[in-house]
Amino acid sequence: MLALIAGAVEDRTARGIAAAVSRLVTAGSLPSGARLPTVRDVARELGVSPTTVSEAWQSLTRAGAIQTRGRSGTFVGGLPRQRLRYAQLGGPSLGTDLSTGVPDHDLLPDLTDALKRVGDGRLTTSYLDAPVLPALEDVLRDRWPFPPEQVTVVDGAMDALDRITAAVVRFGDHVLVENPAFPPVLDLLDTVGATVVGVPLDGSGLQPAALLAALSEYRPTALYLQPRAHNPTGVSMTAERAAALARILADFPAVTVIEDDHAGDIASAPPVSLGGYRPDRTVHVSSFSKSHGPDLRLAAVGGPAALVSTVADRRLLGPGWSSRILQAVLLDLLTSAETTARVAGARAEYARRRDALLAALAAHRVTATAPDGINMFLPVADQQFAMVTLAAHGIAVAPGTPFRAAPLPTDHVRITVGLVRDGFDDLAAVLAGAARPRTRVVGGSR
Ligand SMILES: Cc1ncc(COP(=O)(O)O)c(C=O)c1O
Repeated sequence: MLALIAGAVEDRTARGIAAAVSRLVTAGSLPSGARLPTVRDVARELGVSPTTVSEAWQSLTRAGAIQTRGRSGTFVGGLPRQRLRYAQLGGPSLGTDLSTGVPDHDLLPDLTDALKRVGDGRLTTSYLDAPVLPALEDVLRDRWPFPPEQVTVVDGAMDALDRITAAVVRFGDHVLVENPAFPPVLDLLDTVGATVVGVPLDGSGLQPAALLAALSEYRPTALYLQPRAHNPTGVSMTAERAAALARILADFPAVTVIEDDHAGDIASAPPVSLGGYRPDRTVHVSSFSKSHGPDLRLAAVGGPAALVSTVADRRLLGPGWSSRILQAVLLDLLTSAETTARVAGARAEYARRRDALLAALAAHRVTATAPDGINMFLPVADQQFAMVTLAAHGIAVAPGTPFRAAPLPTDHVRITVGLVRDGFDDLAAVLAGAARPRTRVVGGSR
């Protein structure tokens, strides 16, 4: 393959190498799934620096022609592994779909009055207006868990993470994530050619000793974490743990901390961030999807001006800004006493549902984690068996595998407990059966 690539390269710049490999992929000479030689080997063969080849690989990754799979290597074929599709794997046709990770529609605030109040929608008078409604920015700054240098508004937490990642992470960088992690974030990091390192969690957040070891070994560019209601485990970082992690990170000033507070106001735990300790290196994302509605498509990004302005400026070359009409709806919701009470009610109801299912499972001696948010991570003896057993009862859940950033000691399934309104004892009985080891058929050949 080295000879094939070398033979195709006419221009030994990064652009020329990328163009040659791209032609080989299009012609089918480099088939989808083929493993590319290492950057170093290609550089040696072509007599160029590894940086040049790395740049070529980077633009091929951006173009979707190749993808890096961590230490396994770089492969032909654009699409990331698409863990993103994990939720549908359970099969939407099943009667009870607990695979989705979405909030309960009936616990979201009604937008009718807010929509009426924002009225005629003449908010967007100029392309040159500030991307964030000034009154909304004031409210966001008041709510922020640390004084942010700059705040902007984007189309949801994933939009924020996508754009922050583009600004911070370079092809081949090491990046730390929680293990388990949110599958679309793992996909996103695959897409930009980052090498992901999973750091274990305990009940208070990232484990300090493991974080220190990973920082020392990999010298990562960034640390991605979910400060509250971690998806899938439900863990919220305590204030003490945040302080401990910040002490460790103080020796690694180059690391950008990217916080995805995706659960926002439905999290029971108080707001928490490392931003108070390292404001110049922490960018915090606050989503309103779970609390006020996924289709508002709004999240705020706050942190160091250098980073937040990079995100906002790059967006000016795309959508420009997030709809000011929707921003006005959000402002109305955030400043309405009635909506605030409704969101508090949703938060309490999610807590009741988590506690009820955990208690019902405990009666079957089954331990799962769901301390906060809308998800429960249930250890099972065998993921496949668990999913099939649950499907036989008409219940879809998400498989645990796509959440793995590194091996975990057991299999898991993720259950969106926030959607379970009643019938906790019956559900727990089925879950307990699904969590058990596959039963052997006596005298059978399995
Ligand atoms: C951890 C995590 N991050 C981000 C998101 C997506 O949030 P948004 O709807 O704001 O894009 C989710 C949605 O479930 C999530 O669980």
